[in-house]
Order: sequence, then structure tokens, then C-alpha cells
Amino acid sequence: MTADGISTGATATIAASDAVLCRATGLVKEFPTSGGGLLSRGGSFRAVDDVDLEIRRGETLALVGESGSGKSTAARLVARLMEPTSGTIEFEGRDVTSLRGRDLHAFRSDVQVIFQDPFSSLNPKHTVERLVTAPLRYQNRKVPGGVRDFTRQLMERVGLNPDHSDRYPSQFSGGQAQRIGIARALAVGPKLVVCDEAVSALDVSVQAQVINLLTTLQRDEGFAYLFIAHDLAVVRQIATRISVMSRGAIVETGDRDRVFESPQHEYTRTLLAAVPRINPEWDRRRRAAEKARREAARTAASDPARPDTATEAS
Ligand SMILES: Nc1ncnc2c1ncn2[C@@H]1O[C@H](COP(=O)(O)OP(=O)(O)O)[C@@H](O)[C@H]1O
Ligand SMILES: [Mg+2]
Repeated sequence: MTADGISTGATATIAASDAVLCRATGLVKEFPTSGGGLLSRGGSFRAVDDVDLEIRRGETLALVGESGSGKSTAARLVARLMEPTSGTIEFEGRDVTSLRGRDLHAFRSDVQVIFQDPFSSLNPKHTVERLVTAPLRYQNRKVPGGVRDFTRQLMERVGLNPDHSDRYPSQFSGGQAQRIGIARALAVGPKLVVCDEAVSALDVSVQAQVINLLTTLQRDEGFAYLFIAHDLAVVRQIATRISVMSRGAIVETGDRDRVFESPQHEYTRTLLAAVPRINPEWDRRRRAAEKARREAARTAASDPARPDTATEAS
């Protein structure tokens, strides 16, 4: 890894190896296609095409790319919710690609997923208490301190009223429901939390609060995020590093600032150009202009005898 965060291959990989939590190598996922015409028998379509991903302990690796580029599929493969056609997934140095049964259940304590729509991922007939303790019960694990207190503590952690532990998902707002999803993910003490557009459906102000929560929880617990979002303003706020995906492949990976400031791949440049308000160069210029304006206003206010100052500086 060079100073500006561009991966330079094998040597750098070895040096950083103890920091690596999860490594996916050569991941491929093919889906069958039904076939277009009389002569076509249907083949397969590569949604994920030879993807390498490295997620380090405690970091936030953002996965960005346009809709349909394969982000969710790649994330599901990493979380072992879906079988790869080929490739390997290592977690803490162990090959977890083919885990089955009890071993796979145990792996679920290490990797949790939070989805975009909290309501569709929370059983509407279950109370918060039942929902957030379900992952522990699936794994036949004892609920530390008892179900009641455990749930109350978790609810407090994610900013929900602990007195509402016997309520149902429909009694909460979208932002609150997403907090239930976060609480459920936290319950098992994961080392990696995959957020697949987890804040994308929320209103801007609610989104900001949930992002703050995610950041605080990570700081306190030390887990890593694989964070998928199409909103690059959100990504810039939360990411440590960024992998850019296009048509099933990773086209670029680097430290956040490096990717935003000097994107190497044409596709990344296009992606960033589509959202000019977060172009860092433009941001810098905007902030400098704002500062100059404020200073000019202050000077004018403190020195009314020289009205030309404000005009000069503006
Ligand atoms: N279960 C599936 N069966 C067939 N095709 C799928 C399936 N899941 C995803 N795809 C296709 O794979 C491609 C990548 O999808 P996805 O990973 O959801 O992209 P993204 O999350 O970047 O929007 C899309 O063309 C999508 O239609
Ligand atoms: Mg998706």
C-alpha cells in the first residue's frame, strides 16, 4: 500500500495481513439466464466477476457503484448468505467458503447484515424483545443477563426507548425500525457488519442520526463495516476505504480521500462527476469562498468607517 492508498500487490498484502479481517479472492457469482429466443438455450450471467475484497479490522470499506453493478450480490457472498460459483472467502485467516451446518451458524456471530428495508427484514408478528434475541436463540446461545435486561440494554445502545421492548415493528417509524435491525445485528457481537443500503431509504435528518449511531457503535465495539451505499455524500462521511464496482468487477480500491480527490478509473470519475456537490475540490473552493465572505462581513461590521473593505473582499 503506498502513501496515497493505492494497493501495490503482494508485498503490501503480506505486511497488512494481521489487520485483515475478511478477504475475498476471485469471487464469481453466476445466475442462470432463461434464454432469449428459439435458438438460445439460456446460459449464465456473471453478476459478480472475479472480485477481490479486503476488509480490515475496525474499518469501514464502502462498496459503491451504480445499481445492478453487483454490490449486494458481492456482499451476500461475503456474508455467506449465498454460495459463490467460485472463489474463496477467508475470515480471520480461516477459509469459510464452504462452511455448513453448525460451523456456518457460528460464523453468523461474526458477520451480520443490515438491509435497506427494516420492515421487510423484521417479522411483523414478533416483539422487539423476540426480534433482537432471535439470532442468539438460533445459535442456542444463552442470553447474557436474561432476555429482558439484555433487550433493554441493547435498545438503549441504539437510542430506542427500552420500555418499548414488547412493541411490534409496525409501531415504530422507519428510522426506529432500522435501529431495531441494528440492535439485532449487535446482539451476537459481530466482527463485521454488512450494511446493504441500510440508510438509503431514510429521510435525510433521520439518516444523519443513524449514521452517527453506526459510527459511535463502531468506535465503541471495534467491528468493521462493509458499507454499501449509492449516495456518495454518505460514503464520504463514513468510509475508511472505498471499492468501486462496475458490471460485476472492482475497478478501483483506495483510501477514501485518495478515491475522492484523484480517482484513477474512468468509471469512478464518472460516478463522482454525477454528484458535483461532493466533489472535494469544489467543496474546498466553496468553503474558502464562504470563509472570505464571513471575514469580509466581520471586517465591515467592526470598521464601518471603511465601507470599501467589504466590497473589496466580496
Ligand atoms: N437472485 C438473482 N437471480 C438472478 N439475477 C440476479 C439475482 N440477484 C441479482 N441478480 C442480478 O445481478 C446483477 C447485480 O445485482 P445486485 O448485486 O443486486 O446489484 P446492486 O446491489 O449493485 O444493485 C443485476 O443485474 C441483478 O439483476
Ligand atoms: Mg443492491
